[in-house]
Amino acid sequence: MRQTFGTPPIKENLCASLSSVTVALCLITLLLIAIRGRKSHRKSQLDHTKYLPLPGPTPWPLVGNLLQMGDQIHLSLTHLRLQYGDVFKIRLGSLTIVVLSGYSTIRQALVRQGEAFAGRPDLFTFSAVANGTSMTFSEKLSPEGLGSSCLLEEQVCAEAAEMVKVIREQAAAKGDQEKTGIDPVRPLVTSVANVVCALCFGKRYDYNDKEFLTMVHINNEVLRIFAAGNLADFFPVFRYFPSPSLRKMVQHIRRMNGFMERSIEEHIHTFDNKYIRDITDSLIELCEDREENKDSSLLSNSQIIHTVIDIFGAGFDTIIAGLQWSLLYLIKFPDIQDRVHQEIDNHIGTARLPRFSDKPKMPFTEAFIYEVYRYASYVPFTIPHCTTRNVSLNGYFIPKDTCVFINQYQVNHDVDLWADPDTFRPDRFLGPSGLLNKELTEKVLIFGMGKRRCLGDGLARLEMFIFITTLLHGLRLENVPGQELDLSTDFGLTMKPRPYRITISSRF
Ligand code: HEM
Ligand SMILES: *[C@@H]1O[C@H](CO)[C@@H](O)[C@H](O)[C@H]1NC(C)=O
Ligand SMILES: *[C@@H]1O[C@H](CO)[C@@H](O)[C@H](O)[C@H]1NC(C)=O
Repeated sequence: MRQTFGTPPIKENLCASLSSVTVALCLITLLLIAIRGRKSHRKSQLDHTKYLPLPGPTPWPLVGNLLQMGDQIHLSLTHLRLQYGDVFKIRLGSLTIVVLSGYSTIRQALVRQGEAFAGRPDLFTFSAVANGTSMTFSEKLSPEGLGSSCLLEEQVCAEAAEMVKVIREQAAAKGDQEKTGIDPVRPLVTSVANVVCALCFGKRYDYNDKEFLTMVHINNEVLRIFAAGNLADFFPVFRYFPSPSLRKMVQHIRRMNGFMERSIEEHIHTFDNKYIRDITDSLIELCEDREENKDSSLLSNSQIIHTVIDIFGAGFDTIIAGLQWSLLYLIKFPDIQDRVHQEIDNHIGTARLPRFSDKPKMPFTEAFIYEVYRYASYVPFTIPHCTTRNVSLNGYFIPKDTCVFINQYQVNHDVDLWADPDTFRPDRFLGPSGLLNKELTEKVLIFGMGKRRCLGDGLARLEMFIFITTLLHGLRLENVPGQELDLSTDFGLTMKPRPYRITISSRF
């Protein structure tokens, strides 16, 4: 998933780094890249002549519906659903894409018919780079979810505390931060990256460590190049021209692999199966087990590397974006911040910092985070899926190897589900007794659903909770005097808010 959830550069203006064009291109790339059907000659159990043809807008020659998409693709596709319903098709260049909307339709596809919708499209760009060993983009389902552990809790909490310290120092160094504010993005990026590094390599990096900064930078470069035009995916004729950017991307990936390989070799050298330190260790263990069992499907070193890179990329940009949105809403709606402060004071107090176990006891804070996921819907679509066999959905026939987009944004802004989807209102998730309404929270769609749902879901929710509560435990955040806060964004795989600054004051 490194290409999808890439990382911003560590330098300069982190927020603004993903220009709208880049992000739009990135998305379009994915859209476009998405599928190339492979012909199958086996007999179908479904007779497609018995089904209605899939509805959808009329495609133009060559470009298909591309020009009808505009730059806010999630809004265009959400709008098209009003006309064509929960299951419709669009064409982008030579690719047909089926777009799914509506909570129950998506559930029907990803959960009830999970197996049939669990494929990943065979992406030209990805396969040129990852060579089919990436777990995220390969058809193979990853072995298991990422559980939480005490060690993990320690790391997340320590990193959150470090972040608050860095923000305080940054403000103090500035002197006049009450007037001009500070940019919170850099401390956020560094802390979140460190959690992922600890997870993958069992090692944290100093905020100025060169190797660490290089890694973060390379990850970003890969995203940039990846985003910058893969016409080859759209118009197959471009595949026959040498692409300097693709070559550069492969070089970057090699450097990244070099970094990973060194780290993994170090792990293999010092591996002790009685003491599993991190994800790399558990993957090595997986290999050793299989070797003993004489299982032919060994996880190779290169698969370990790709898995680690996938997790590195996946657990990074998404969390940063979530925190950037959270901070923005906290300064935009100070009364909501007051209520989170109140809950922190009631349940945690000033004597200790927040822990994982506080989360279920703080329904308002949880409701706030759900509302951030819902309202921002900053991962508007899942990674594209692909049908693994001929399948029928809502009375329509979808052939094997069709690229499927899941419109999470639409579900989160469905008027039938939310009544006032365009109001930021955490209270919508609280029942009369102030407890979370689980029936409603489960309708917020941001981690996907079913077999391909986000592997880091549990960790991500805990990480978001700890970072937000640790920040608000010690600090009050406010808007900079005179700063206009813009809640809008541009379409992308992960959508970020426009840059903003905050002022901080100590609560005690
Ligand atoms: C708030 C933060 C996060 C959000 C919103 C998010 C969202 C998503 C989404 C939408 C998908 C695609 C699901 C699909 O295709 O149906 C995904 C996949 C994935 N996520 Fe996350 N994610 C987050 C954090 C994380 C973290 C922290 C990790 C790891 C530490 C992680 C690891 C993964 C992996 C490995 C996949 C690929 C699963 C597969 O292809 O089978 N994610 N995530
Ligand atoms: C899927 O359906 C198509 C008709 O669109 C048919 O030609 C094909 O043989 C079927 N394939 C399988 C694997 O059932
Ligand atoms: C991909 O990997 C296979 C072996 O798994 C190898 O034979 C092939 O040359 C690789 N392709 C590229 C483009 O690196």
